[in-house]
Amino acid sequence: MSAMNVIVDPAELQQKLAELRAQAATLAFVPTMGALHEGHLSLVKLARKHADKVAVSIFVNPMQFGPTEDFRVYPRQPEKDCELLASAGTDLVFMPTEEVIYPQGWAVTVHPGPVGAMFEGKSRPGHFQGVLTVVAKLFHLVQPNVAVFGQKDAQQLFLIRRMVEDLHFPVRIIEGETVREADGLAFSSRNVMIKNSERPKATVLYRALLEGERLLDNGERSSEIMKQAMQSCLESVPEFRSDYATVVSEQSFTEIDPVPGEARLIIAGHFSAVRLIDNLKFNAT
Ligand code: PAF
Repeated sequence: MSAMNVIVDPAELQQKLAELRAQAATLAFVPTMGALHEGHLSLVKLARKHADKVAVSIFVNPMQFGPTEDFRVYPRQPEKDCELLASAGTDLVFMPTEEVIYPQGWAVTVHPGPVGAMFEGKSRPGHFQGVLTVVAKLFHLVQPNVAVFGQKDAQQLFLIRRMVEDLHFPVRIIEGETVREADGLAFSSRNVMIKNSERPKATVLYRALLEGERLLDNGERSSEIMKQAMQSCLESVPEFRSDYATVVSEQSFTEIDPVPGEARLIIAGHFSAVRLIDNLKFNAT
């Protein structure tokens, strides 16, 4: 494997991309905000299966954080991230500065449409506009054939697919399965911010999802019953402030009742100031 390139400057990025393209037919891209964990590394491995070369970006995107959110304290560990990426088989890491992504006087953004105002978008106004805008910019800079995103951020994945289709981006979106810690908590860069005393209780999100799944497996199709069951599981942990626990259609990412044979259970809330989200796909077939 050739040495991994770590690039900050967009002109240098274009030069390295041209070199990679001369050696390889296809390029896969994994956008990240760094603080990498096993979930990210599984996306890099998946990317390798779908293309000859793999590029990863690390950029903590200020536009997707609200004014009272955790942008300032979001974990940052660029050196460690680069070591992890080198051993996972990454060819190129792009770490743009804020000035590159948001140049002086920038004004144009990508609006996510109605689904962008629901669930995560309702609790975090402007979040998905920030996500889609940065992903669109990164797609233009990197020009990948394939881009890989985790199912853990199911609404983000839905909206990125929507953007790619609606705006005719020439990129194929691949989704990677959620990777979980041994006790079921989904890997997230924010997990390191959970207080030690609250960490064992953070499994409540996955337990609530499994309870919803159990009901579905037993033939329950009332979304209301599903929501109540997940909610009462979440309420069993008083430290967790739940935001939503519901069932959405895989096709429209809107709530559905009764639940059809294919759906997604989605959950979000806070331990102290740390926001956690999780989801589970249900497929009766
Ligand atoms: O999922 C993330 O880490 C971010 O939302 C993304 C897609 C890298 C955009 O900043």
